[in-house]
Amino acid sequence: MTQAGLDYAWPHRDLLGLEDLSAQDIRFLLKTAHGFEDVSTRSIKKVPALRGRVVVNLFFEDSTRTRSSFTLAASRLSADILELTGKGSSVSKGETLTDTARNIEAMGVDLIVCRHAQSGAAKHLAHAINCSVINAGDGQHEHPTQGLLDIYTLCKRWNLMDTMDLTGKSVAIVGDIAHSRVARSNIHGLQKLGAKVILVGPPTLCPGTFRSLGCEVSHDLDDVLPRIDAINMLRIQFERMTSQFFPSVREYATLFGLTGQRIKKARPELLVMHPGPINRGVELDAAVADGPQSTILEQVTHGLAVRMAAMFLCLNAKNRE
Ligand code: CP
Repeated sequence: MTQAGLDYAWPHRDLLGLEDLSAQDIRFLLKTAHGFEDVSTRSIKKVPALRGRVVVNLFFEDSTRTRSSFTLAASRLSADILELTGKGSSVSKGETLTDTARNIEAMGVDLIVCRHAQSGAAKHLAHAINCSVINAGDGQHEHPTQGLLDIYTLCKRWNLMDTMDLTGKSVAIVGDIAHSRVARSNIHGLQKLGAKVILVGPPTLCPGTFRSLGCEVSHDLDDVLPRIDAINMLRIQFERMTSQFFPSVREYATLFGLTGQRIKKARPELLVMHPGPINRGVELDAAVADGPQSTILEQVTHGLAVRMAAMFLCLNAKNRE
């Protein structure tokens, strides 16, 4: 299949993580997303690419952005979409993830988009069922479409959509690296496209062991700020923390929060990213979150095109099988 000017057959029926993708895979998916981007700006926001296909959103964790973005993306591709959450389904009566997915699959579903608190849940599903699986965030493992939409946003802002070569660019990821699936997907994706990744946070949340992934690790945000092109401020995930990782939220915000004052240490063209939801006043001041360097809402917008591309390519790969 030729898409977006590239002669390449996307080989993956599932999208489980960016660790599994090559640089060519990532560039091809982002080029395909670029081709879908204008669908959302038309008066009739629909193309028939997945007409007749059935997509299920299977969300066992809360979500605003990812779930609604997959729903809209499926709808823009003319797929039928079914929404299932842990609370309203028979999971609350003790049904296992595998049984739930197999029963849904038996209704003739083509693709399951899964969010789950357990790392590895999406991979487990992909082995257990025959339809395509897209990981919408599994525990502390990966959130591949978030990583892809972050990289897409950077490529667009840096006018690098032609090459998607991030060589020479430095991106800091700040905060709760240890618990973050967004960090892992960004680390794999950014490095595959040539960027340098600097992880920043307190040693308890950003341990030196992450150097084994090829990243620089720093515990001093003020030292890193002047030498980076983009900064991705992660949410402190209070719900995943099983013990006290820093003395107080106030101390964390003082050392690692990006304020209107602190951002002056960075280059004026620094891009400020956040996957959402934001803990305002902890990771970011309102002045920065809503300021001119923020790409936060652009990231959300780009998520739609990226998810359209992910669903389209995975289902086409499955078809070829
Ligand atoms: N960024 C992200 O995954 O947000 P949601 O939890 O709202 O989906």
